[in-house]
This record gives sequence, C-alpha cells and structure tokens, in this order.
Amino acid sequence: MTELCFSILAADFAHLADDVAKATEGGGTVVHFDVMDGVFVPNISIGPPVLNSLRKATALPIDCHLMIANADAYIPAFADNGADWVSVQWEACRHLNRTLELIRSHGMKPGVVINPATPVEFLTDVLDIVDHVLVMTVNPGFGGQAFIPGTLKKIERLAQMRQERDLDFRIQVDGGIDHTTVESVVKAGAELLVAGTSVFGRGQAVEDARSLLDLARK
Ligand code: DX5
Ligand code: ZN
Repeated sequence: MTELCFSILAADFAHLADDVAKATEGGGTVVHFDVMDGVFVPNISIGPPVLNSLRKATALPIDCHLMIANADAYIPAFADNGADWVSVQWEACRHLNRTLELIRSHGMKPGVVINPATPVEFLTDVLDIVDHVLVMTVNPGFGGQAFIPGTLKKIERLAQMRQERDLDFRIQVDGGIDHTTVESVVKAGAELLVAGTSVFGRGQAVEDARSLLDLARK
C-alpha cells in the first residue's frame, strides 16, 4: 500500500507535535526522522533527545533515516528512545550486514539507503535481510532540493530485482517528492513516499498531505 512518510525536517521544531498531528490528519502514516551528523552529510539535524519527546507525541511508526558515520554506535540509543524503523546509508557502512542485523536485534525494522550515484546492484546481497530500501532521489543533507529524474530507472530496476527473486522489501523514495513528481515514482514502483517541503512548506499540512496522497493513489 502507498504510504506517506512525512519528513519532519521541514516542520516547525518549536511546534513539532502540532505539525505531526496535522500531517497525520492529512493521511500520513509514518513519521520520517532525518538524522544528520555534519560528517557524512554537510548538515546537522536532530537525534535521540528529540526522538524521545516525539515518541510521546505520536502513535505512528517513527522511521529514522541515519545520515551519519558510525551508525552502529548509536543504534541502541535509537531503540531506547522509540525508533521503529532504522535505515542506514550504504555509503556510510563498512560492515553493512552486521549493521542491519544489529538494527533487527534491537527489535527495529532495518532498511538500507542508497545515494543517487550508488547503483541498486550494490544491494544484491542484502535485499533478503531488509524490510525497506530507500532510493534517495536527491543528494542527502538538505530538504527542499530538486528531484533527480535519473533515479526513476533505479526504482524500476529495484522493483524488477524484487520480483525476480520473489522478495518482499518495500521501496521508499526521499527527496523532491511533490505533486509534480509523485506519480512518476509510484509508477516506477515506490510505495513509501517521504515528503517534507511539499507537506509542511506552505503552512497547510493537512490539505497538502491529503492532496499528495490522493495523487499517489490515483
Ligand atoms: C534529505 C532528507 C529528506 C528531506 C526531504 O537529506 O533525507 O528526508 O527531508 O525533504 P524534501 O521533501 O523537502 O525534499
Ligand atoms: Zn530522509
């Protein structure tokens, strides 16, 4: 089923619970939580303390997208503070299989993320141990960037690999997902749609979440 994973990176952090409630009212079913360390990506965002507060403010699954070096060291903290899904960047993990197993051993759903320049074929040997694969449709680090059209082919290839091997991971996309791009990613095979700016950017998250989902499910 197509789901909206609204990215709180574009929300008002001083009124986070209100913004989450609005996106939820608009039909969002997953909270996307972007963690940036200023090392793997050139930006710094939020981490376990904010997650801890957010956990008390929503019953939705919280999907933590770790854009950090040395993810292994922080996985217990994400588990302890209420994360449900944790995805790690292929480019940042030296022992990816170990990291994914570590996430699962802490009771969370593991996912792997690839940057626009990383081929889906590099995921061949972990596709059977992940719950979701996130295909970045922008370079990670900032909200509000333009969708990179070349990523559509990657989504299609990934969907094909899943079918050929009869696997059941879900395909997620992140970056530049709005009313002009959402139909193309769904057509290519994405079902978990991360969107920040297009949900929170205009101060009408209920309506904008709803219309994005309507387009995606059309
Ligand atoms: C980018 C983050 C995204 C970001 C998407 O590094 O991973 O989740 O919030 O923002 P929009 O929807 O504005 O492109
Ligand atoms: Zn993200």
